[in-house]
Amino acid sequence: MKQVVSVVNLKGGVGKTTTAVNLAACWAEQGKKVLLVDLDPQGSASICVGRMSTGRRLLDAMQKIIALPVVPTDVTGLDLVPSGPELVTARQIFIDGPGDEIFSSCLRQTAGEWDCVIIDCPPSLDMLTMSSLMASQHVIVPVEASFLGMNGVRQMVSAVESAKSRNPELEIRAIIPCRAQPRRRIHWEIMDRLDEMFPGKVSPIIHENVSLAEAPGRGKPVILTARISRGSDDYRLVSLWLAEHVGLGEKKTPELSTEDVSPSLEEVNSL
Ligand SMILES: Nc1ncnc2c1ncn2[C@@H]1O[C@H](COP(=O)(O)OP(=O)(O)O)[C@@H](O)[C@H]1O
Ligand SMILES: [Mg+2]
Repeated sequence: MKQVVSVVNLKGGVGKTTTAVNLAACWAEQGKKVLLVDLDPQGSASICVGRMSTGRRLLDAMQKIIALPVVPTDVTGLDLVPSGPELVTARQIFIDGPGDEIFSSCLRQTAGEWDCVIIDCPPSLDMLTMSSLMASQHVIVPVEASFLGMNGVRQMVSAVESAKSRNPELEIRAIIPCRAQPRRRIHWEIMDRLDEMFPGKVSPIIHENVSLAEAPGRGKPVILTARISRGSDDYRLVSLWLAEHVGLGEKKTPELSTEDVSPSLEEVNSL
């Protein structure tokens, strides 16, 4: 089964969209097939890959419980389910309860050979974020190294714990310190706290970097707008770290059919 990863933090402005878009692009650059799903009615992930949308088609798919609308992007290997303001209505239509399982059903019906699906969530624990958690096995949490940022992490842990009662596969796999400014003392205090709370799960840091602030305006991931930059280096490193340490973004190994590997009776006899 393909990996489905939710990028979640209940706080806004911490780097969720930047992380979802740029990790997806880095994995695609490494030869994986990736589907980026924008589940935020603000449509920021769609804008970041130059595919603005009204969100109508995504809302339609959820209302009819059919396959999600998928569009290609300028990054080879990276496809997108775009979102936009009309998706806001989903919050009213599918109020709490089983409504948040509709998205999983749409995703299952979406045909495509992706190694990994990465979902950019809105900054709240609403029906859309819950829909994403219901459809995922993995959660990654971008965290801004600030005092209030830590508060958001605790809320995240309890939100994931409560979602686990309905989706036992769900697990927080990684914490990604974003917009990091290691020259500030608070940065190191927060890093220590994160290491204590999530031993082995804290990834290398993403520095605050102008290349990452500028890329959305060009409608492309940073590896295309500033191929050699701190922003590109940081996200490439974290994408490799996630693959190596928590097995995320790994290429699907083709299932070997016994026909392909077993020698025929004649071959055995001739040995
Ligand atoms: N590492 C970074 N360095 C500089 N700017 C960043 C960085 N990460 C995010 N930003 C900028 O900060 C703002 C909020 O980031 P975003 O990824 O949209 O957060 P969220 O999705 O959590 O609301 C955006 O303008 C984005 O370009
Ligand atoms: Mg966002």
